[in-house]
Amino acid sequence: MPKIGIIGGSGIYKIEGMKALKEVRVKTPFGDPSDCYRTGQLAGVDVVFLPRHGSSHTINPSQINYRANVFGMKKLGVEKLISVSACGSLKKEHKPLDFVLPDQFVDRTTGGRCMTFFSDGIVAHVGFGQPVCPELLDLIWGAAQALNLSVHKGGTYLNMEGPAFSTKAESHLYRSWGMDIIGMTNMAEARLAREAEMCYATIAAVTDYDCWYESEESVTVEMIVANLRKNAENSKKLVGEVVRRLGSAPSSCACSESLKYAIVTDKKAIS
Ligand code: ADE
Repeated sequence: MPKIGIIGGSGIYKIEGMKALKEVRVKTPFGDPSDCYRTGQLAGVDVVFLPRHGSSHTINPSQINYRANVFGMKKLGVEKLISVSACGSLKKEHKPLDFVLPDQFVDRTTGGRCMTFFSDGIVAHVGFGQPVCPELLDLIWGAAQALNLSVHKGGTYLNMEGPAFSTKAESHLYRSWGMDIIGMTNMAEARLAREAEMCYATIAAVTDYDCWYESEESVTVEMIVANLRKNAENSKKLVGEVVRRLGSAPSSCACSESLKYAIVTDKKAIS
């Protein structure tokens, strides 16, 4: 049975109903993760939970230690990693309180985030054309449909830097590129999960229409917080159903072999 990691975003600081709950602090070569990990069982399946902004939401998207967070998950034996995240919508059909399961990412962060484990003498170029595990995506899609949630399968997540939201000009630019949703965190997690040879998928819960949507007020923190609360409840239901299904789902994807041909540094230089 695979161990499942869940990284919770804004509004998701714990998962209720975890049995045999333990708080585990993990040391990593990359520094401290956002918080202690909560390990335990959901529906009889081993899960590890981490709130990416810390349990009191003290870490902003640019300051999250993504490498430590994903490394800690790997150290705790996680094989499948799910990021549960708030996002803005860049398309009318993705309404606030809907879920979007993106299958692509575009990076618009400004270069300050460390998104690789490979530095200091080891070079690896991992394949990232398909950043989301297709099997995990399908399973989440099935679980969301079974719960009658309003969910969109596929789409592109634009990862902006933040912490300020976009200007209208930026929002329109991203729409002209065909982007579906916008958030501040998932790109690094997706890349690092691939390097860590884990299956990865994002569950994005729409809180707002960003600022492009003229008939709505521009995005405000109040609006987002109200929708965050509503989304958190559905997100947790969805996570429960996903975990229950993963407990008995066979897996045949190649995510656990992502590094097979990726390391280009001569082995003699590594040992
Ligand atoms: N997270 C939630 N709403 C967002 C938005 N409009 N832009 C970026 N990140 C978000």
